[in-house]
Amino acid sequence: MFKKIAFLLVIATMILSACQPAATPAPATEAAAKVWTYKDMTIGFLQTGSEGGWRAANTASFKETAEQLGLTLKFYDSQNDLAKQVAGFQQFIADPEVDVIAISPLEAAGWEQVLKDAKAAGKPVILSDRRIDGNEDLYVTFVGADFVEEGRKAGTEMCKLLEGSEKKNVWELVGNVGSSPAIDRGKGFRETAEKCGIVVTNSQTGNWSIVEGKQVTEAWLKESKDVQGIFGQNDEMAFGAIESLKEAGLVPAVDVKIISVDATAGAFQAMLDGTLNVTVECNPLIAPQVYEAALAALNGESLPKWIPSIEGVFYSDDANLKEIAAGRKY
Ligand code: AHR
Repeated sequence: MFKKIAFLLVIATMILSACQPAATPAPATEAAAKVWTYKDMTIGFLQTGSEGGWRAANTASFKETAEQLGLTLKFYDSQNDLAKQVAGFQQFIADPEVDVIAISPLEAAGWEQVLKDAKAAGKPVILSDRRIDGNEDLYVTFVGADFVEEGRKAGTEMCKLLEGSEKKNVWELVGNVGSSPAIDRGKGFRETAEKCGIVVTNSQTGNWSIVEGKQVTEAWLKESKDVQGIFGQNDEMAFGAIESLKEAGLVPAVDVKIISVDATAGAFQAMLDGTLNVTVECNPLIAPQVYEAALAALNGESLPKWIPSIEGVFYSDDANLKEIAAGRKY
């Protein structure tokens, strides 16, 4: 009897299991997350425009590094026009081929909405070279310099150059209005310069250009020659000031001390010519860090909110200036 029941039980189990729908294999956790490589990545980069030696080196860094890494770069030249830059940004948000967006913002303010749109579209955003005002949760990271610190360095160096000078009137040639380098370098310069009694008696934008730097300085010199130092927020504007001083019969770097920011090849030549005293470096070769951050963002890695660039200060009275200049990449 017992055997019969046991036998029936076995049969019943076998029948039941046969009726069970085939066990669907446990669903693998969502499709294994795609591991992005540079070859898969298309990055849309919004450049400011082409306003001088620094920008040319920065653009070359993006184009050359993209080629080396085998990633696809969609390069957008905003022609130093904010409306064009915003339109380009929206274009990249809508472009299905673009995976990640990088931007060198022409101005610090006004990016909240497009950054929100990019986030809604699932496109990570990397700030390159220049920071923006606003909620840092709307972008992945900022790769670039501490512009305030660059300004502080320039102020400290101007104090040294004007040490013992009876008067310390300094004129400032400012970058494009509203941009983070223009705002921050001015702030940093005053922070340290005012400590040694420097007074900024003239300050006006020269829009990063030699021509405007020259025109603005010319206009000031027509009014007065009571200037002991000129702070050019970039090399090009300082070069323009040098020309104006010469035409006004003043000896640049002697009668009037001159400090610039960028440390491009032109600045080294001016220091070797004895017309520029000091240049504070702003490193344009940051594309590798931007692309690295872009790839990390696509792979869901967390990143610090700021990835600083490495920078120095260079002096016309440096004994090795010639060798240093010969070894520069830009
Ligand atoms: O954002 C960096 C600044 O932009 C550089 O100092 C200047 O030369 C360029 O126009």
